[in-house]
Amino acid sequence: MQKSSRDKVVAGLDIGSSKVVFLIGLPNANDGIDVVGFGSVPSPGLRHGVLINIEQTIEAIRRAKEEAELMAGHKADEVWLGIGGTHIKSFDSKGMVAIKNKETQNDDITRVIEAAKAVAVPADREVLHVLPREFKVDDQEGISDPIGMSGVRLEALIHIVTGANSAIQNIVKCTQKANLKVKGLVLQSLASSLAVLSEDEKKLGVAYVDVGAGTTDLIIYNNGSVAYTAVLPVGGGYFTHDIAVGLRTPQDCAEEIKKKHGSALLNLINEEETIEVKSVGGRESRTVLRKNLCEVIEPRAEEILNLIKAEIAKSNLQSQLGSGMVLSGGGSLLDGLVEMGEFIFDIPVRRGLPTQVGGLTDVVRSPLYSAPVGLLKYGLSELHLDKEITNDGKKFPEIVVDWAKKLRDVIAQGL
Ligand SMILES: Nc1ncnc2c1ncn2[C@@H]1O[C@H](COP(=O)(O)OP(=O)(O)OP(=O)(O)O)[C@@H](O)[C@H]1O
Ligand SMILES: [Mg+2]
Repeated sequence: MQKSSRDKVVAGLDIGSSKVVFLIGLPNANDGIDVVGFGSVPSPGLRHGVLINIEQTIEAIRRAKEEAELMAGHKADEVWLGIGGTHIKSFDSKGMVAIKNKETQNDDITRVIEAAKAVAVPADREVLHVLPREFKVDDQEGISDPIGMSGVRLEALIHIVTGANSAIQNIVKCTQKANLKVKGLVLQSLASSLAVLSEDEKKLGVAYVDVGAGTTDLIIYNNGSVAYTAVLPVGGGYFTHDIAVGLRTPQDCAEEIKKKHGSALLNLINEEETIEVKSVGGRESRTVLRKNLCEVIEPRAEEILNLIKAEIAKSNLQSQLGSGMVLSGGGSLLDGLVEMGEFIFDIPVRRGLPTQVGGLTDVVRSPLYSAPVGLLKYGLSELHLDKEITNDGKKFPEIVVDWAKKLRDVIAQGL
C-alpha cells in the first residue's frame, strides 16, 4: 500500500462492555469522512467499562481490526481510542491572567488556560481532556471567543476530564499488544455526542446520554461547550439480568426477549399479548404474558432514568437544556425508553443516531455505533487541525490545539 493513502486513514477503536468495534474511515471531498471498514466482535472482559480480562480483550481487538481492514482494503496502524468507565471523573476549574497588550491574543488564551489547568490532579489520575467552557474579559461574562477583545483581565472556566492511570494503561496496553499505536484517547461520551448532536442542540443546551451495556454516560452541552460529564455504573445489561432472574430464562434468551418484546412502559403494550420464554436447564419453553416481561423492565428503566436525573441536578444545568435530551447507545433502543424519559425529565427527548458520515452508513447508522463513529469524527477534526495550524512546522501544545479546534468550530457556526 502506498504511504500517502495510509497516512489519510483514520481509525477508531471503541472497547465497550458488550462489543469491541473497530472502524476505518477515509476523509472525503466534502471535508467529511466515509466509513470504509467495520469490525465488531463481542466484548469479553469489561465490567462497568473497566477491563477484567486482558488476553481476551487483545484477541477481540485483533479480530475487530482484521474484519475492518479486510472490508476497507486499507491497513490501520494507529487508532483513536475511546475511554469510558466509572473511573472517569470530571471537574471545573478557573484561571485568571492580566491581558498583556490590553487586547486578547492567542498567547493570553494559552496562559489563562494553563492557569486554570494548574490544579492538583492526584498522581494516580491522568488528564484526558481540558475543555474550555467560557471566558470572561473584565466584567463581561459568557464569551466563547475572546480574541481581539480589549480589557485588563482575562478569566477562563474550563472542564477537566480525568481517568484512573491503571484503567487507562490497561486499555492502552491491550491496544498496543494488538499491534496498534494509540493516536489519542477520547472520552467515549464526547466521541458519541460528536457523532449525533447538531451544533444547534449544543448551543441551546442539551443533555446527551449514551446508554451502553455496562455504563450510562452523561455529557451536558451549554452555549456550544461541554459543561458537565459523568459516567454512571448502570446500563442495558441490567435489564437483561433482571429478565433472566425474573422470568427464569438463560441470559442469552433474556437478551433476545428484551430486544424483541421488551418495553419500558407497560401502557404501550397490549395486555393480552403473550410471548414464548425458554426455561433454564433444558426444561420446556413457557408462554408468559408480555406484560410480565415489561413489569420486570419498567422499574429498572425508571431507576436508571432517575439516576440520570439526579446527576443532571448535581450539574445545576437543568434550566439550560433548551434542546432537551438525546438518548443514544444500544440501550436507547429499548422500546418506550424515550417516552418514559419525556415523562420523567419533562423536556423533549429524542433517540440519536450517528449522522453526517458517508460510506457504510447502512451499517453504522444505529445508536449502537455512535461512539465509534464519533471517534472517526474526532480523528478527522484533528487531521484538519494538524493541517491548519501546524503547516508552518510549529507544533502547538495540546491545550492550544484543543482550544483552537473549539474556536474553529465556533467560527464555522458564524458566531
Ligand atoms: N433493540 C434493543 N432493545 C433493547 N436493548 C438493546 C437493543 N439492542 C441493543 N440493546 C442493548 O444495548 C446494550 C449495548 O449497547 P452498546 O453497544 O452501546 O454498549 P457498549 O458500548 O458495548 O457498552 P458500554 O458503553 O456500557 O461499555 C446491551 O445491553 C444490549 O442489550
Ligand atoms: Mg459504549
